[in-house]
Amino acid sequence: MIEQLEQLQADAAARIAAAADLDGLHAVEIDVLGKRSTLTDLRKQLGGLDPDERRTLGQRLNDAKAQLEAAVVARRADLEATARTAQLAAERLDLTERLDPAPARGHLHLVTQTRDRLEDVFVGLGFTVAEGPEVEDDWYNFEALNIPPSHPARGMWDTLYVDAGEPQSVLLRTHTSPVQIRVMQDVAPPIYAVMPGRVYRRDTADASHMPVFHQIEGLVVDRGITFADLAGTLEAFTSAYFGSAIHSRLRPSYFPFTEPSAEYDINCVFCEGSGCRTCAQTGWLELGGCGMVHPNVFAAVGIDPEEWSGFAFGFGIDRLALMRHGVDDLRELFTNDVRFLRQF
Ligand code: PHE
Repeated sequence: MIEQLEQLQADAAARIAAAADLDGLHAVEIDVLGKRSTLTDLRKQLGGLDPDERRTLGQRLNDAKAQLEAAVVARRADLEATARTAQLAAERLDLTERLDPAPARGHLHLVTQTRDRLEDVFVGLGFTVAEGPEVEDDWYNFEALNIPPSHPARGMWDTLYVDAGEPQSVLLRTHTSPVQIRVMQDVAPPIYAVMPGRVYRRDTADASHMPVFHQIEGLVVDRGITFADLAGTLEAFTSAYFGSAIHSRLRPSYFPFTEPSAEYDINCVFCEGSGCRTCAQTGWLELGGCGMVHPNVFAAVGIDPEEWSGFAFGFGIDRLALMRHGVDDLRELFTNDVRFLRQF
């Protein structure tokens, strides 16, 4: 019996050591240590032995069992470690891996580049940059800008209203001028600020109109500001942005929030004034509106027009981008065909 046990123990140890994976080891374990194993059979035979033999053999059986159990535990630990290593290798992510050729890097959209350049020019002139919400209410977009309800000038801006119930007073801002009001509410003069952003009008898209476009607003409020300061600032901006060959001029116009008001034109950047298709042979390109801040606008924000005066201007960022790069259709900017955008 002792011999049989020794043989069994050696066989079992070899099988445990040879188990190739956790499932295999489990099968071997049941086979050599389980209820139907030879080891269990031998134990059942102990009852038929005399007491001395029973004790000796019983002791040997227990030792063998303990030894085999320990061998299973050790082998299991080995196999688990191997399995874990294999799993880690299989699931490994190489974060330094690069697709070859490396994907091309994008760049800022032409409108964003133009906006950044405009901000830079004005910051260089001593202006700060402010922003306001795109969803406005009637008071900021119209009333505070001296455009009361039913004022005919409301027809100048084809307004998109937000359906927020009656009264219809929530809208998508039609220009960046409401940010003038917000800036004057927030900070006391002197104010030198530009306010770029997205604006909305109920327009059908064509070569020179989009329902969503971008403007940059300017506002100066200080003591003794005159129309000459406005003209000088716009001329300084024009040469800083377009180069010293391009000049500006102001033509009388009308805006409810400025008095007097003017249109701001520059020499045509394509023909430099001699007349071409883009400027309709006039030699001039229209950039935007401007004027001296109306006393009613100052009244709306509680600034004393006897002490302070100021000017404001607003022009289209998208049109500037088109002019600078000689693009003749505004829609190109928003179709976002990468073959077009990649050029800038
Ligand atoms: N807000 C005007 C527009 O969009 C432009 C403007 C701004 C005119 C500031 C005068 C002063 O048409």
